[in-house]
Amino acid sequence: MAQNIAKLDEIMGAAPVIPVIILDDVDAAIPLAKALVAGGLPALEVTLRTPNALKVVEKMASVDGAYVGTGTVRTKADIEKSIEAGAQFMVSPGAPPKLLEDALEFDVPLLPGISTATEAMAAAELGYQRLKLFPAEAVGGAKLLKSFGSPLPDLKFCPTGGVSVQNARDYLSLSNVICVGGSWVVPNDAIANGDFEHIKNLAATAARLRDA
Ligand code: 3PG
Repeated sequence: MAQNIAKLDEIMGAAPVIPVIILDDVDAAIPLAKALVAGGLPALEVTLRTPNALKVVEKMASVDGAYVGTGTVRTKADIEKSIEAGAQFMVSPGAPPKLLEDALEFDVPLLPGISTATEAMAAAELGYQRLKLFPAEAVGGAKLLKSFGSPLPDLKFCPTGGVSVQNARDYLSLSNVICVGGSWVVPNDAIANGDFEHIKNLAATAARLRDA
């Protein structure tokens, strides 16, 4: 099996931004997912970095209109746990060949992270044409992705890491960028204060980033 590109294009193309969520408070999961979806960001990446992350995924997966995925996927066990929790996609900071091979055994697609042309080519060799550029700003940002466009025209990206409302348009204007990922739409203090209206507003601004 190769990476399910049609499914990933549907998820990555749903909005210009995929919020990167680090959440341990299971009670906040549904209000947070509802706020992001209502603001216009239906694809949500829940990182496997908190003890309750998989419970958060399960809760969010019940929200109408949400595409819930897991992030920080590093092992086959992470893949299995993600799928069991209801993830519709998975994201990894890297692209170790073993992880890429393991993920091809499952229907739920993996978006692996790369930061060089060689890594992108190695992933493409294994059937991966949708990739995360990580950590995007630190490894060369929009300039790097623009440079990938001509030699690697079949590959499309979701840059993540240091992307913000200020620089997102630099990425979104590139023909090889489908969406960007970022945590700026889910500030910790707003979650802690239960200020989901603020998060909805941040999501709505992010959802309009492709507009003129
Ligand atoms: C992450 O995995 O934490 C993402 O890359 C988010 O990066 P950001 O906090 O810079 O948006």
